[in-house]
Amino acid sequence: MKSIASAPGKVILFGEHFVVYGVKAILCSINKRVTVTAEKTSERKISINSKIGKLEIEPDKPISEINSPLKPFYYLANKAVENKDTGIHIQIDSEIPLGAGLGSSSACCVAGAAAIFKLFGNISREEVLKLAIEAERTIFENTSGADCTVCTYGGIMEYDKNKGFKKIEYEPNFQLVIINSNIEHSTQSMVSKVKEFENKNTEEFSRLSDLESKLVEDVLKLVKENKIQEIGQKMNQNQKYLENIGISNKELTKMIRIGQESSFGAKITGSGGGGCIFALTNESNLQNILKKFKDNNYECFSTKIDFKGLNTF
Ligand code: PMV
Repeated sequence: MKSIASAPGKVILFGEHFVVYGVKAILCSINKRVTVTAEKTSERKISINSKIGKLEIEPDKPISEINSPLKPFYYLANKAVENKDTGIHIQIDSEIPLGAGLGSSSACCVAGAAAIFKLFGNISREEVLKLAIEAERTIFENTSGADCTVCTYGGIMEYDKNKGFKKIEYEPNFQLVIINSNIEHSTQSMVSKVKEFENKNTEEFSRLSDLESKLVEDVLKLVKENKIQEIGQKMNQNQKYLENIGISNKELTKMIRIGQESSFGAKITGSGGGGCIFALTNESNLQNILKKFKDNNYECFSTKIDFKGLNTF
C-alpha cells in the first residue's frame, strides 16, 4: 500500500526580520508543491530517494548520527516504525526551488509526516504539524514553526512571534511572480547582520520597527478590501525598510527595480542577501512581467496563493 501527501511552499509577504523583534509578519502558501510517497517494505530499512540524493539506513540510529539533508525524513520514518516489524521507502518529488527561502524544507516535513504516518492509520492536520515541526528542528533548531504552519493549513496568515498564528479568512486572487537571484544566502548570517545593525542603530531600528508594524496593520485591512494596487505600494515601502536595515544588495536592487517598474509592487521575500524577490500582479500584466525578467535572463515563475495546504491521497 502506498500513501501520498503533498504540501505547498511559502513566501513571506511582509515583515521578515522585523518579525524576529516582535513585529507581526504576513505569510502565504504558494501553488508549488512537494509530493511525498511512502510505502511499507518487508525489509526493516528506511530508504529515501530524491533529486538531492539517496539515503538507506537501518532504523533506530540516534538522529545525531545522520549526516544528510534528508535527516527530517529519517526522523519521521524512524519514529513511525518504532517497535514495528516493517521498513519504509520514501520518494520525494518537488516543484519548489531549493534553498531559496520558499519553504521547501517545511513543505517536505509536512508532506513527509502526513505520507509516512498515514501508512499506520488516520492522522489529523494538527498531529501532522506537530510532527513536521519536530522533524524540521533536526535541521533548523530555532524554527519558529511559522513555515510548517502555513504549509499545513495553506492560505494567508498573520504570524506574531509571541502570540502565534492567525489565519486570514479571505482569499485574494493575486498572482505572484517569484524571481530567483540564484545567489546563495544563509538565513542565520542575515539575521546576525540585522542584529548588528540593531545594536549599532538602536533608535533607527526601533523607528523602522514601528513603521513596519503600522504597515502590516494597514496591509491586513487592504487584503480584506482586495486593494491590490495599495498593497503593491506597501510592498515597495516595506522593501525600503529592508534596504535600510542592510539586507539588500546591488543584484537584488536591480531585480526589485525591474519588478517595481512592471508590477503593482516588488520586494525581497525572506532573509535577503540572495534568494528570491517577488512582484505582485494580476492576470492583466502577468505575461508582461514574466517576459521582462526572462529578457534579463532571470529564473522566474508565476504562482498563486494556495488555499488547500496539506493534501493527502
Ligand atoms: O529563511 P527565509 O529566507 O524564509 O527567511 C527567514 C525569515 C526571517 O525573518 C529573516 C527570520 C525568521 O526566523 O523569521
